[in-house]
Amino acid sequence: MQKKDKINTRGAANTGEKPTVVVAIEQNFPKEERIIQDAIAPQIISGSGRFWVYLTKINAIRNWMVNASEKSIQGVWSCFLVRKRYIDERLIDEVAQNRINAVVNLGAGFDTRLYRLSEVQHIPSWEVDQAVNINTKRERLQKVFKEVPNHVKLVPINFLEQEIGEALEEQGYLGEAKTFFIWEAVSQYLDETAVNKTFDFFAKAPTGSKLAFTYVPKNFITGENFYGAEKFYKQVVKRKLWHFGFNPNELAAYLSNYGWQLIEDLSYAELNNRYVKPTGRKLGAMEIERMVYAEKL
Ligand SMILES: C[S@@+](CC[C@H](N)C(=O)[O-])C[C@H]1O[C@@H](n2cnc3c(N)ncnc32)[C@H](O)[C@@H]1O
Repeated sequence: MQKKDKINTRGAANTGEKPTVVVAIEQNFPKEERIIQDAIAPQIISGSGRFWVYLTKINAIRNWMVNASEKSIQGVWSCFLVRKRYIDERLIDEVAQNRINAVVNLGAGFDTRLYRLSEVQHIPSWEVDQAVNINTKRERLQKVFKEVPNHVKLVPINFLEQEIGEALEEQGYLGEAKTFFIWEAVSQYLDETAVNKTFDFFAKAPTGSKLAFTYVPKNFITGENFYGAEKFYKQVVKRKLWHFGFNPNELAAYLSNYGWQLIEDLSYAELNNRYVKPTGRKLGAMEIERMVYAEKL
C-alpha cells in the first residue's frame, strides 16, 4: 500500500482543469465536427487555458496541437471528450426517466456538465474536490454566473484523509435520495485505502442509484503493460501522481462486494466508435483508461 505522504495531491489538483481546457479548444472545431458542445468551458478555465483556446482558433495551430497530443499518447485528445459525452447521456437519461433525485460529482475539477446541461438544473447536486480547486471554481462560477447556480453545492475534501459522507452532509447531502455519482478520472490519483473508503460510501447509497466512473487498468500502474506510453508512465506513475488501477477481470466482483452491479465496462475504442466516428474525424482511442457504469442493488 502507498503511504499518504507519497501521494502528490497538489499535482492531482493541477490536473483538474486539463479536461475542460481540451473541451474548450474543441469548441473551435466546426459545430458538426465537435465531439461535445460546451459554451461554459471556454469561460471557466484559467487565463493560460484561455490563451490556448484563443491560439487554436487558427486551424493549423489546432491541428498541430491535436496531432502532437496524439503522438505523445494515443487517444489522449478524444478520451476527455468521449467520456464526458457518455456520462452526460447516462445522466440526462436517468433524469428524464425520473430515476434519480441527486447528483454527486466526486473529483469534479472544472467539469461543466451541471451548469451546461439544461436537463439537470432542477436536480440538487454536489461537486466535491480539493479545497484549492473548489475555491477557484467558486470564484470562476461567480464570474460567469454572478453567483454559484443554486442547484449546486461545492464541497472541499481530501479523499485520502476525510470521510466523503461527513463532508457532503455538512453541505446538506443526507444520502437518502437516489443519486447519480460521477467519479471521472479520479480513482488513479488515490491509494487502495482511499478507493475502498470511497466504495464504503457508495455502499450506503439507496437502491437504484447509479455510478459512472473511469479507471486505469492495473497492469499499467504496475508497469506490466505500458500500452505504448512508457514516457507517460514515467510522468504519472514514477512521479507518484497515479497510484491505483483495477484489474478489469476483477471489477464486477469488486463492485458486487459493495452492493453494486456492473452494467457496462467499456473500452475507449467502443466510445470512439460511438462519438468520434460520426464526426468523420480520425482520432486514436485511449487504452489506459476504461469507462464503467453501475447500478446500486
Ligand atoms: C484528472 S482531474 C479530473 C477532473 C474532472 N473529474 C474531469 O474529468 O473533468 C482529477 C481530479 O481529482 C481530484 N482529486 C485527486 N485526488 C484527490 C483527493 N485526494 N481529494 C480530493 N480530490 C482529489 C483532483 O483535485 C482533480 O480535480
